Amino acid sequence: MSHFLILLVCFILFRDSLNTVQILGLFPEYHHAPSQYLEADQSSHWTTQSMEMFRAAITLADRYKIYVGGNPINYTILQTNSNGFAELELVCRSITNTTVPDILGVVGPTTSTNARYIGPFVARIGLPLVSYTATHADLDDKSNYPTFYRTIPSDILLAEAIVKLFKYFSWETCSMIIGNDDYGYGGLKLISEVYYANLSIRERLIFDPQSDKYQADLKQTLEKSQSRIVLVWANHSSCTKIIQHVLRAGLLRRNYVWITTNKIDFNMFEQNEWFNLSGILTVVPFIGNSSAFGVNETLQKEAFDVWRNLSHNKNSVPKLASAVSLEAMYTFDAVWALIQALNKSVLHNKPPSMNKSLACFDNFLQNHDEYLNHLKMTRFYGVSGNVQFSKANSDDCTHGVMYGLYNIQPMMLKNSEETQKPTYIKVLTWYETTSQHLQILVIEAHPFVIVHNSSTDNQSSNYDTNLEQVSSRFDPMKTNDPKIFIYGFVADFIRELERHMHFTYTIHVADPTTAYHSLITLVAGDNRQYDMILSNIAMTSDRMLKVDFSTPFYDNTFRIITRLNPYSSPLSLFSCFNPFTWDVWVAIFVVIIYSSIIIYIFEYQNGNIENSQPELKAICTGIFHGLISILIMNGDIRLTTTSSRLTILGLYALGVILIATYTANLSSFLTLHRGKPFISGIDDIKNGLLPFSRIGIVSNTSISDYYIRNISTKYYSLTTVADTYPRLLDYTIDASICDSSVLEYAVNNYYCDELTLTGVSFVKSPFAIALPKDWLYKTDLDRNILALRESGKLESLENTWINHRACSSSSSSSSSSSSLDQVNDQNSGTFSLNVLGGLFLTFFIITAIAFGFHLWNCRVVIINTFHQTMKRIKLPIRLMPIRC
Ligand SMILES: *[C@@H]1O[C@H](CO)[C@@H](O)[C@H](O)[C@H]1NC(C)=O
Ligand SMILES: *[C@@H]1O[C@H](CO)[C@@H](O)[C@H](O)[C@H]1NC(C)=O
Ligand SMILES: *[C@@H]1O[C@H](CO)[C@@H](O)[C@H](O)[C@H]1NC(C)=O
Ligand SMILES: *[C@@H]1O[C@H](CO)[C@@H](O)[C@H](O)[C@H]1NC(C)=O
Ligand SMILES: *[C@@H]1O[C@H](CO)[C@@H](O)[C@H](O)[C@H]1NC(C)=O
Ligand SMILES: *[C@@H]1O[C@H](CO)[C@@H](O)[C@H](O)[C@H]1NC(C)=O
Ligand SMILES: *[C@@H]1O[C@H](CO)[C@@H](O)[C@H](O)[C@H]1NC(C)=O
Ligand SMILES: *[C@@H]1O[C@H](CO)[C@@H](O)[C@H](O)[C@H]1NC(C)=O
Ligand SMILES: *[C@@H]1O[C@H](CO)[C@@H](O)[C@H](O)[C@H]1NC(C)=O
Ligand SMILES: *[C@@H]1O[C@H](CO)[C@@H](O)[C@H](O)[C@H]1NC(C)=O
Repeated sequence: MSHFLILLVCFILFRDSLNTVQILGLFPEYHHAPSQYLEADQSSHWTTQSMEMFRAAITLADRYKIYVGGNPINYTILQTNSNGFAELELVCRSITNTTVPDILGVVGPTTSTNARYIGPFVARIGLPLVSYTATHADLDDKSNYPTFYRTIPSDILLAEAIVKLFKYFSWETCSMIIGNDDYGYGGLKLISEVYYANLSIRERLIFDPQSDKYQADLKQTLEKSQSRIVLVWANHSSCTKIIQHVLRAGLLRRNYVWITTNKIDFNMFEQNEWFNLSGILTVVPFIGNSSAFGVNETLQKEAFDVWRNLSHNKNSVPKLASAVSLEAMYTFDAVWALIQALNKSVLHNKPPSMNKSLACFDNFLQNHDEYLNHLKMTRFYGVSGNVQFSKANSDDCTHGVMYGLYNIQPMMLKNSEETQKPTYIKVLTWYETTSQHLQILVIEAHPFVIVHNSSTDNQSSNYDTNLEQVSSRFDPMKTNDPKIFIYGFVADFIRELERHMHFTYTIHVADPTTAYHSLITLVAGDNRQYDMILSNIAMTSDRMLKVDFSTPFYDNTFRIITRLNPYSSPLSLFSCFNPFTWDVWVAIFVVIIYSSIIIYIFEYQNGNIENSQPELKAICTGIFHGLISILIMNGDIRLTTTSSRLTILGLYALGVILIATYTANLSSFLTLHRGKPFISGIDDIKNGLLPFSRIGIVSNTSISDYYIRNISTKYYSLTTVADTYPRLLDYTIDASICDSSVLEYAVNNYYCDELTLTGVSFVKSPFAIALPKDWLYKTDLDRNILALRESGKLESLENTWINHRACSSSSSSSSSSSSLDQVNDQNSGTFSLNVLGGLFLTFFIITAIAFGFHLWNCRVVIINTFHQTMKRIKLPIRLMPIRC
């Protein structure tokens, strides 16, 4: 039993020593600066803050249960101010010490000089080195320092910021004072070799802080210099000393402009000298305070909470993030990057481990290739902004680096009215714009985004033919998924913006069932995963609370879509009467009766109609003949009198014209009737002409918001816009409200004879790009969108995509002018007596002429009858019909 226990204990000890890992932190020893006037708060010094943030990151990793080999990650802090070689020895000892856990990463060192010693060594054993303060441009050289990374921006960017600043003020020359260390010489090298064309150095001075001397006379050199602008490239302490010399030489306020690359320590100056410091400029990197700058505020808050929890003196923790030094923020992100890489290595079951050896250079990190690869690919929003080590065009670590131009200005101290303390005030900012890499999210919505997935072909044939046409005419745009390409208005729009704004991007395609409101949250706040959403996203007041919008790029409205054939309509029973109004039909009926009667009268005399028939029957036959004449135009009854022939001729003419009119009008009426939807606009929907449950609305969109606010809370809920069309066609819903551009495209290209738009468009809801709040490049983006609009580019994109139609134009009544057509059509749909009156009048004139003939033919009879009548005038009057 006891043997077993000993074994167990041994095993646990063995396991522990084998599996516990740690991250080594290198920090400078902080010596209390001798301050004469203000007691410098030790806890506010950046070294202290950096170490606290280092611990906070390790503790946070423990809280997130990021374990390597089942154990939490431990840490060791080495505090030293020794030179590079001595520091290398310390690191070596830690690695070879068998009693401490394996070292899987080093955070540090503080200076670029020391990084030159440690960098090649850790590269040899495969250990990553992530620095938070070493800025020298040489360290970007991956062949000498393959495992070196940093979270602070490289001096290359500082030099670029300074050159941009000079350009801004139209300065072209400067005198340069540098500290005699790696940092200073690195700066001199950058300005004189990389930016010689933009900024020419007239005089240079080298300051040695050890001996507190310049290599030449300060005053003389500056006075003989042709430039009155002095650039001081030196570290914090050297900068302070240089400015002290300058002040005491009386050069500060005499026509010189002073620009330093580090803030100076005011406590090293006499209080009466403070006032003289005003006006000194400083260019230093700064980090944002919100997610707009790539800062993960949640992570930042958690880090500060842990820091507060860990520290013994709760008051020593800064209340505001702005009171935390840059170095501390960069330290946290350096540790967090290592932790992220370890997390990924563990996830892939290949955690790195140290093959320990007593000889320093024989140590070897197993699995370091994958681990370093994970580190290289690490990309996250940290407390100092977006951290990213791999970049397409440059080796710099951070994305969208920002530099601020600060100016020293006197500020009233809070407690004492008299004394003014100098303060740094930010007056200008510079963003690294050249290397913006945007994560753009799109969602399928024809014609804005047409998604082509080469691995699946499950779309309906309509879409496929269109896609074929589109892909033959346009270039596909790649997305993060190699199998998926996009086409459409948005793809071309992004290309145009890229041409003008010079950014790079990755397109992500959202799942088509994602609700538009939830899309918006993907660029909002801390959970921001993308830099912009570009599709048919409408600007709404609710969304404006969460995100910002660019200038609109398309003026969209809402429209209603319905089926072309609402029902197999029962009303069509009488629709054949529709071409004429009722008075025309009455007139036709009257004409038939009338012509029958007169034909009967004309033909009576010739006995064509047997006398034996009763009169009523004869009249009926006459009517029958008249009817035949009008409709068939081929009466086989033989007409004998000129008058009836003339009448029949008139009837023919009338019939021909009426039938031609009727036929033409009926066909046009039926066509129109087929194209005429059963609701005529949004008012019909508001008035409840359709049951609300048969109106399809895509939920969680700007349209559903509008619908709920203005019409009803009841609707048939759809998940995607593309779902609308099949639901309409299978009679699940009768109408739907959607973006006009999307609907017009669908109706004009996919559902030519099946669906139609009705009514006029209503509610303008312009499309814009959804951006994170306070996005840095918003102004630039807005300006470029406006420029595209002004140059007509946007309009030509609209013509190419949105106004494209594949249907033959006759078959679709859906263009935006259709509402106007309908108004006209309604008037011309039926013919009233006003229009056709002339025709009938002509006929009556013809019959009048026929009467004239009749009277002429019968003149003998009439005259005889007249005479007989005159003779019998005295006889009692006898009713006697005039018969011819
Ligand atoms: C490792 O962590 C444990 C607990 O967190 C702590 O007690 C121990 O001292 C640490 N070891 C080292 C070497 O830092
Ligand atoms: C190894 O580390 C332990 C604890 O940090 C220390 O006490 C010991 O002296 C170190 N051993 C060597 C050989 O440096
Ligand atoms: C600044 O540079 C000098 C050498 O020029 C060096 O001695 C000093 O330690 C540096 N200070 C800091 C804070 O790095
Ligand atoms: C420096 O000058 C060159 C040539 O005039 C120019 O192409 C380049 O953009 C300038 N660099 C900066 C950072 O302004
Ligand atoms: C500082 O400024 C004051 C007022 O302008 C001036 O009298 C004084 O000489 C200056 N001190 C130095 C050291 O230049
Ligand atoms: C960020 O800083 C700006 C000015 O520097 C300030 O107006 C803004 O309120 C700050 N935002 C947050 C969230 O602290
Ligand atoms: C911000 O940090 C929190 C906590 O670590 C994390 O859950 C969240 O995913 C991070 N957000 C982003 C956008 O990285
Ligand atoms: C602070 O520490 C206490 C006790 O150690 C713990 O219960 C609490 O969750 C911690 N809070 C934070 C924010 O870390
Ligand atoms: C660690 O990796 C897992 C799996 O990928 C992930 O869910 C988790 O968020 C990661 N932890 C941190 C702190 O990033
Ligand atoms: C560990 O190192 C020793 C020599 O120092 C070597 O013999 C052994 O093969 C190494 N183990 C692995 C797994 O590489």
